[in-house]
Amino acid sequence: MTEQTPVTEASAVKVPTLPDAQTVTSVQHWTDRLFSFRVTRPASLRFRSGEFVMIGLMGDPHPETGKQKPLLRAYSIASPSWDEELEFYSIKVQNGPLTSKLQHIQPGDEIILRPKPVGTLVHDALLPGKRLWFFATGTGFAPFASLLRDPQTYEDYDQVIITHTCRDVAELEYGRQLIENLRKDEMMLELLGEENLAKLTYYPTTTREESPKMGRITTLLKDGTVFADLGIEGISAETDRAMVCGSMDLNIDLKEILEGFGLEEGANSDPKHYVVEKAFVG
Ligand code: A2P
Repeated sequence: MTEQTPVTEASAVKVPTLPDAQTVTSVQHWTDRLFSFRVTRPASLRFRSGEFVMIGLMGDPHPETGKQKPLLRAYSIASPSWDEELEFYSIKVQNGPLTSKLQHIQPGDEIILRPKPVGTLVHDALLPGKRLWFFATGTGFAPFASLLRDPQTYEDYDQVIITHTCRDVAELEYGRQLIENLRKDEMMLELLGEENLAKLTYYPTTTREESPKMGRITTLLKDGTVFADLGIEGISAETDRAMVCGSMDLNIDLKEILEGFGLEEGANSDPKHYVVEKAFVG
């Protein structure tokens, strides 16, 4: 008789079958258009808060050869660089090649994650300043979900303002809860510090459903509403730094507004006053 090795919990763990596979640990659906999920973090992966990686699933088999190719898209890492897992915040596009499938992932499933983080929404791409603005629309909140949980964000500035514009109130919920938890969660409070968190201002707006503050952030900046609401004189290259993440149109419109205030676009190799990244769509 052969001696049988008992199946322990450790030996029962699923062996990764995909290249660069990571295992989904949790999934949360926020609306019928939005969900977030967490996956295991490759032991070797180091990244700067605000960066993105390519993630995805295997595509459908080729009709003739049966071969499958990975279907990958750029996703901002929504978790901070110190977190032991990785978090992502995604739209669900019903006919989107990737998100039509990705929205069905469950804990225990595997996704592909190429461990090569890059991106411009990083502190290194900005010159020192006094006030930091994060401008997000929709899932463009994701890189800021990372940066808002990074102590450096508060240590480097006197004031941090996050604006988030969504179509309706339910779409603000991921960001709203995350910001609320910065102050409620004991671990976050200890890590970031109460004094640092006092520097943070949250400015949510909606465009298609009634809420306390309505309108596109671009409109509210142009007509001065944001400044009146926050008791700020305006934006200037001397004091203000900004990071922008939204749709292509939003990015173009905000670039124009920020440059109108005299801010110049920075990069990792050439830090300046503001940086922009397109939120993943599709
Ligand atoms: P709107 O409802 O007026 O289109 P989406 O869910 O389509 O990605 O949009 C997210 C939010 O970004 C919506 O509130 C949308 O407003 C807003 N938005 C879209 N394009 C722009 C833009 N060019 N400038 C400012 N806000 C924009």
